[in-house]
Amino acid sequence: GKHLLGIEPLHPVEIITILDLADEYVGLNRASVKHADALTGLTQINMFFENSTRTQASFELAGMRLGADVMNMQMQASSIKKGETLIDTALTLNAMHPDLLVVRHPHSGAVDLLAQKVNCAVLNAGDGRHEHPTQALLDALTIRRSKGRLHRLNIAICGDIAHSRVARSNILLLGKMENRVRLVGPPTLIPSGAADWGVEVYDDMAKGLEGCDVVMMLRLQKERMDGGFIPSEREYYHRYGLDAGKLAHAKEDAIVMHPGPMNRGVEIDGTIADDINRSVIQEQVEMGVAVRMAAMDLLARNLRAEAA
Ligand code: CP
Repeated sequence: GKHLLGIEPLHPVEIITILDLADEYVGLNRASVKHADALTGLTQINMFFENSTRTQASFELAGMRLGADVMNMQMQASSIKKGETLIDTALTLNAMHPDLLVVRHPHSGAVDLLAQKVNCAVLNAGDGRHEHPTQALLDALTIRRSKGRLHRLNIAICGDIAHSRVARSNILLLGKMENRVRLVGPPTLIPSGAADWGVEVYDDMAKGLEGCDVVMMLRLQKERMDGGFIPSEREYYHRYGLDAGKLAHAKEDAIVMHPGPMNRGVEIDGTIADDINRSVIQEQVEMGVAVRMAAMDLLARNLRAEAA
C-alpha cells in the first residue's frame, strides 16, 4: 500500500515481507548498510504531537541510515500553539513536498485523517489508543528472532490493555500469525469487547502466565485515563506487577517484553527488566530501528513504482 497506518489492513504475507527485510537491516550502521541509498533524494518529516523517546529517535536514525533528508518538526514550538488545526498543518507541510510523513498524535484516527489530505506516504507512529503498527512489527521481529518462529506461541499481554495502542496492534498481528493470545489485567483495564477478539482474558497473573512463551508487560497509561479509575500503584504492583514469583508460572525459557517507557516497581520489577537471560527489552529497541528502515524502504519502493 501507499501508507502504513495500522496492522489491521496488512496481510500475513506483507507482515513477513517487512520482517524479512528488517532482518537484513539488524545491526547495520550507516557505513555498512546494504541499501544505504534506499531513501536517497527523499524527504522524511517526523511530526510528533505527543512525547516519544524510542519511536521518534528510531524513525530519525532509520531515515538517516537509508539516506533520506530527515526533518523533525518541533510540534511543541509549532503554530499548533497558535490555533492552527491538524489538517491545516498537514496541508502546509504537504506544500513542501515531503515523501514520507511520520506522525504520532494523541487522538485515535488522527493519522488516518491526515493521510487522506496529503500526497505522500504516511506512517503511523502511534495514534491515541488505536494503533502503533511499527511497535507490533518490532515486537514480532524480536519474538521471531528469540523463539525461532512467529506462530503457535502462547503470548500473554499484561496490564493496561484498555488504553493501549501497542496492545491493539499486537493482538491484531499475533492473531493474524495464528498465535494464542491471552490478555491479563484488572477487569477495569480490559476493554469490554475483548472477548470477541479471539483472545483469552484473565484477571489473575498466575493463571494468565501459566505455560506462556512470551510475557509482554504494559505501562499504566494514566494520560489516557481521563477521569476514569486509576489504580493505586502499590496495590497494582502487588497483583499485576511482574516479579520472579509471577514469572515462574510462565515457561522456563519465556521471554519478557516491554515496549517502554517502563515504570519500574509499578508494572515490572527492575531486576526482571534487567535480567539479560529473560528480558529482551533492549533487543526490542534495537529491532525498532531495523523495522522502521524496512517499512520506509518498502513504502519508498511503492512510491517509485507509482511514479514510474
Ligand atoms: N514504545 C514507544 O512507543 O515508546 P516511545 O513513546 O518512547 O516512542
